[in-house]
Amino acid sequence: MSRYESTREAWQAVGEPQPQAVDFHRRQVMARLLPATAVPNGRLCILGAGPCNDLDLAALQARWSQVDLVDIDSSRVQQGVTSQVADARGIQVLTQDLLWGDHPLTPDPASKQNIGRTVRERISAATWSAVGQDYDLIASTCLLSQLIEQVIEIIGSDAPEFVATIQTLRRRHFELMARALRSGGTGWLFCDFVSSETLPELLSTVPQALPQLLEQALTEGNFFHGLNPGILLQVLRQDEHLTLLVDQSQITNPWVWLTGERAYAVVGIRFIRV
Ligand SMILES: C[S@@+](CC[C@H](N)C(=O)[O-])C[C@H]1O[C@@H](n2cnc3c(N)ncnc32)[C@H](O)[C@@H]1O
Repeated sequence: MSRYESTREAWQAVGEPQPQAVDFHRRQVMARLLPATAVPNGRLCILGAGPCNDLDLAALQARWSQVDLVDIDSSRVQQGVTSQVADARGIQVLTQDLLWGDHPLTPDPASKQNIGRTVRERISAATWSAVGQDYDLIASTCLLSQLIEQVIEIIGSDAPEFVATIQTLRRRHFELMARALRSGGTGWLFCDFVSSETLPELLSTVPQALPQLLEQALTEGNFFHGLNPGILLQVLRQDEHLTLLVDQSQITNPWVWLTGERAYAVVGIRFIRV
């Protein structure tokens, strides 16, 4: 089965495309973060919270006792919190580099020859000590595309070791998310995978045409490096290490996230901690 077919089948399995709207992205994300009823002492963690544009913090406070918002740029998160809620009850803003973990990499120009291997080793060993444990739900919100960009800036997308490095990053991101969950907890990777910069039709397509438009884009290789949603799902389902940690992985229908003049196609990929 091709990568494209596995994605298409998964999309067909979860129903009809959804309507588009400016705040549709936020509603899509929030729908996955709110359990039907409040979880007693429930703990939620958001990775890459940024300005919290895709979060409704008051609604999260109503359902979760603890909401941890993690980002490398905590002042931006703090501004997002202040702009949404007067009382930050239950909300913690945590600073963490979610790519290199606790030991940021400062590339040494002298060791450029081995930079690919060094980057892979550092990503594999990354730990997130600021991030808690035993969460009921953890969500990575359009962060992975930015982490991959940072790797590209260091080693370049043409480097022979690029693919292996991105594979390492995807695996480690899923693994660290899974390890921060309690057994039975839920992980959500929200992932932007192509933008209107290379797929301008995203700005105008009708919702019904979106899956087909995106299937074609994937077939043509028109997606962000390392972020083919079908492959991400496959990694969760087939990686020998991850399958010991997670189960029941599923993918949502794609939707469009409109931000300013640009649009992104986004999917959510869900898994359950074993
Ligand atoms: C596209 S934004 C996510 C959107 C955001 N959730 C919102 O609601 O607007 C990506 C976020 O990832 C954060 N980020 C980028 N690189 C990071 C890193 N290495 N470690 C932690 N956070 C990072 C950025 O600071 C940014 O806030």
